[in-house]
Amino acid sequence: MTSLTIRRPDDWHLHLRDGDALRAVLPHTAAQFARAIVMPNLKPPVTTTGQALAYKRRIIEALPSGSKFEPLMTLYLTDRTDPTEVEKARASGAVHGFKLYPAGATTNSDSGVTDIRRVDSVLARMAELGVVLQVHGEVTDPNIDVFDREARFIGAVLAPVIERYPNLRVVFEHITTREAVEFVRGARKGVAATITPQHLLMNRNALFTGGIRPHHYCLPVLKTETDRRALLEAIASGDPRFFLGTDSAPHARHTKEAFCGCAGIYSAHAAIELYAEAFEAAGALAQLNGFASEHGAAFYGLPYNEGTVTLTKESWDVPASYRFGSDELVPLRAGEKVLWRVAQ
Ligand code: DOR
Ligand code: ZN
Repeated sequence: MTSLTIRRPDDWHLHLRDGDALRAVLPHTAAQFARAIVMPNLKPPVTTTGQALAYKRRIIEALPSGSKFEPLMTLYLTDRTDPTEVEKARASGAVHGFKLYPAGATTNSDSGVTDIRRVDSVLARMAELGVVLQVHGEVTDPNIDVFDREARFIGAVLAPVIERYPNLRVVFEHITTREAVEFVRGARKGVAATITPQHLLMNRNALFTGGIRPHHYCLPVLKTETDRRALLEAIASGDPRFFLGTDSAPHARHTKEAFCGCAGIYSAHAAIELYAEAFEAAGALAQLNGFASEHGAAFYGLPYNEGTVTLTKESWDVPASYRFGSDELVPLRAGEKVLWRVAQ
């Protein structure tokens, strides 16, 4: 196949940051996607509906003129989140979920939840009102091997939460392991997962190819080839519980090429093209439309987008870097080729 037309897609997990950084990265996402769930891990985090509405306005103001992109907001759960915030979020029509960061699990997660039991009353209200819980699924115990943290989270936190709140709608974000794929497949109704391009295209060897590769470091960290193959099988199956969430997470170059480098891979410049590569490699290009443009909307109870995006099999060179405010960022595949291109 040399050309593929899909319904205009959505990104169900995206980091846009704020200020100059936001203005630098937003055009990439807005050029491809109609909507995106915008992560709330700003400094300070977006914890209230009022803050989310203000952040949404800043995003809309930063859009290139003529762009019709719609930011879908989510709130950052903390130990102190008040259950009444769930009602405010629901009533706003602009907030589509709450994000659970286990405290210390990843970038800007210091204000996250220290013990899931502390947010029980919030989860109960979310289950009642049908508000989605988006989960960064990794345990934070430093004694647990970093490659095992997602698999361990399933038994320690996720499975019990899903059982305690049978009506809670849950997205297991950026899954990376065979265990996570199997868990989602076997889970009750109302449980789904997003998958990033990097976890479909690379295994953990990519962290060490010819030397240490800070731009391939994200959390959850890349896993084994067996895990990657399980993710490819999940997308190739067409199962509606799996959908697109890039987790595109921009960081200034110097904060990744550093003594202690930040976690996050930037993929917004070529997101749908990178997914097309993964689906082609899985022999499943016909499933890209559902994964990118339908399963997520159906899960979130939102309408499908109008319009289409056409991809052609035509390679192009990714720049070595993009401007990022007064810094620069290094995108996925910097200085290398991407095999598909969005027709303009
Ligand atoms: O690699 C990551 N980067 N994982 C996350 O969970 C957060 C993200 C970020 O905000 O940079
Ligand atoms: Zn993320």
